[in-house]
This record gives sequence, C-alpha cells and structure tokens, in this order.
Amino acid sequence: MLAGKRILLIIGGGIAAFKVPQLIRLLRAEGAAVTPVMTAGAGEFVTPLTISALAGEKVYTDLFDLTNEAEMGHIQLSRVADLVVVAPATADLMAKMAGGLAGDLASTLLLATDTPVLLAPAMNVRMWLNPATQRNLAALKGDGVLFTGPDDGDMACGEHGPGRMSEPEVIMQAIRDHLGQGPLTGKKVLVTSGPTHEPIDPVRYIANRSSGAQGTEVARALVRLGAEVTFVTGPADVPPPDGVILRRVETAQQMLDAVEAALPVDAAVFAAAVADWRVASASGSKIKKQNGALPVLEFAENPDILASISQLSDGRPPLVVGFAAETDEVIAHATAKRQRKGCDWILANDVSPETGIMGGTENAVTLISDEGAESWPRMGKRDVARRLAAKIAETLTK
Ligand code: C5P
Repeated sequence: MLAGKRILLIIGGGIAAFKVPQLIRLLRAEGAAVTPVMTAGAGEFVTPLTISALAGEKVYTDLFDLTNEAEMGHIQLSRVADLVVVAPATADLMAKMAGGLAGDLASTLLLATDTPVLLAPAMNVRMWLNPATQRNLAALKGDGVLFTGPDDGDMACGEHGPGRMSEPEVIMQAIRDHLGQGPLTGKKVLVTSGPTHEPIDPVRYIANRSSGAQGTEVARALVRLGAEVTFVTGPADVPPPDGVILRRVETAQQMLDAVEAALPVDAAVFAAAVADWRVASASGSKIKKQNGALPVLEFAENPDILASISQLSDGRPPLVVGFAAETDEVIAHATAKRQRKGCDWILANDVSPETGIMGGTENAVTLISDEGAESWPRMGKRDVARRLAAKIAETLTK
C-alpha cells in the first residue's frame, strides 16, 4: 500500500516516543522507506540505535553534524520524502513550527520542507488545552499542516483528557489517507526517459549523453501526485524511481513497442533522448579490424515515438508532452518542433555545453503550448518535474 513512498519521520521528545518503534515497523511492513530524525529530547525516551535498526537507515539528529551536511544537506533532507510525519509532536515543536523557528535540525527541516506535514501531537492535557498551544494549532491548520489526534484518555502523567498520541495504527491510516489520494489518483501516465542504445554489433553501440535524470524526476513527481506511472527507460545513469511500472528497453524500436503496449493513458511525457538513427543492419557478430580497411556504417531513421503517438488517430493520449533539447534559438526551434510533432506541450531547454544542463542537476525550461511560451526560472530537475506534474494534474482534472 505504501510501496515506493518515503516518510521523513521526526521524533519529538515525549513519553509517547515509545510508540514510534511500532509505527516504524508498520510503515516498513507496508513497503514505505523511513528516514528518521530525532530531536535531542527524543533521545531521552527512545534510543537512536533502536530507531535506526528498525528503520534500516541512519538517524539524523544534529543540524551541525558536518558528516551529514557532506552526505545530504538539511534542505535536501527536508525534500526527500513524500510526507513528513512528526510523532510525537510536542508542544515545543508545534510552537517552533507555528513561529517559524529553526534552531535545531527538526525545526529547520519543518521550516525548509515543501512536502506535506502530518503531526501526531502528544502532551499533557493542560499543555494541550493551554491557549498558546491552541493558538499554534489553529495557525498550523491554517498553514495546511495535517493532524491526527491527540486522543482522549489516561495519560502517563496521571491526568485524564486530550493529549495522548494517536495509536500507531491510527497514524498509519492518516498516512495512507494522505498518500493514497493525490490529484492524479486513478490516472495513468506514461513517461519515457534516458538514452537509447543502438547496436553496431553485439559489443558496440551508438548512444548519447542523456543521464535520464529529468525523466526520472518527472516520473517520481507524477507518482507522488497519485498517478499510475509506466516508466519506459533506456539505459540511464540514474536508478529508476520507486513505485512505477518499470519497462527497461535498449533501442528506439523497443521503446516504441513498450510505449504502444502501455496505451491507453491519460497523459504521456516523452523525456527520453531517443537516437535519431540506428545502424541499418547491425552485425550479428563482432566486426573485426581488417588491415586498415575501415568499416562503413549505413544508417536508417529511427521511429519518432513522440510524433507517432501525437499523431495517432485512435487512442491518442489526451495530453502529450515532449522535450526539446536545443543549443540555439531555443524557443523558435521548439515552437516549430511542437507543430511538426503534433504534441500539446513542449518543454524546451538549452543544452549548450556552457549551461551544464545535460547530465547536471539543474534545468531551465520554457513551456510551449497553444497559449504561447512560458519561461520557468532555472531550478533543480526535481522542481522542474514537480511543476510539470502539478500542471499535468491541473489540466487532467479540469
Ligand atoms: O526531435 P528531438 O529529438 O529534438 O525531439 C525531442 C522530443 O521528441 C523528446 O520529447 C523526445 O523524447 C522525443 N523523441 C521521440 N522519438 C524520437 C526522437 C525524439 O520520442 N525518435
């Protein structure tokens, strides 16, 4: 149910932290990955060793841990997850969040994240009912923060009333409710990614420098919004995202076959860098050196997958998106390409070597549609992907 999902689990310092190991076990049992973060107080109630052993991952505790910064900066850490869960959410953590404080790792992540946040509050009943906490609760709800609990009942401190942390099963249900429902739930989307390899003979091939990074992020962003994603990828440098229907291919022809087999879909995003040509008759055995005589390769044109799917008379996806990697006159060339191929949108980018975009982590794109050209600022490939996925969701749910 939660396969392919990642939870950034922030553990606050309260007695209810004793329920967190059980929560981690339930999350793992449903296939979720858990990145644990503990406040200094949390370590008084549950040990980092227990948490990391159950999560199967390193526990992050300190904002100024330089090893962590070298591995993963706190901003990046705040963005790795599909959902941030704070359990137990103490009065102190809620106040820090409501006030926008960032004095330790947990509060910094909560201030920096662009991911939905779910709080499972736990505190003494008087602390919960205190007007300050209730003010913070109202402010956080207004900011779009999600809540589960607290429950009514006997408390560890001997008092009775609201303030007990929701049981792990109840927190699980809140997580499922949130992650199972995105604007693209029930929609099928196809994404192509990576380069293609066109064989010359059994050991040699023609390829290109595409890493597959942008297509992978697009697929990941669509999964995050609830889509069922078929991910057709050539031999990419980056691993495929979790939670997709994975179709690995090598050549353009295989990619076209896999794309056609994935239809019908509600939207298709063609981010692969498909080789334009293949060797017309690839040799079945390794071509040998022949005393200075050079082999002559004859080329044949590969199918244009984007164009053929865009121009299907039967079963054309309602939304077809292409990418255009250009080195000059980006907008003019991409606009012409959109017309020629017959797709709905083109995301055009400048891949001249000085931009560092090809194989890099950032992208600067212009979205070309029938409404004209919309230039997006230079941003990480993940952010480009999330913006594109949000736009796809908006269009498909109109
Ligand atoms: O023609 P060009 O390669 O610049 O077009 C780029 C767009 O077309 C990308 O979306 C790419 O995935 C798609 N394409 C394709 N099949 C090809 C060539 C390009 O799907 N043979």
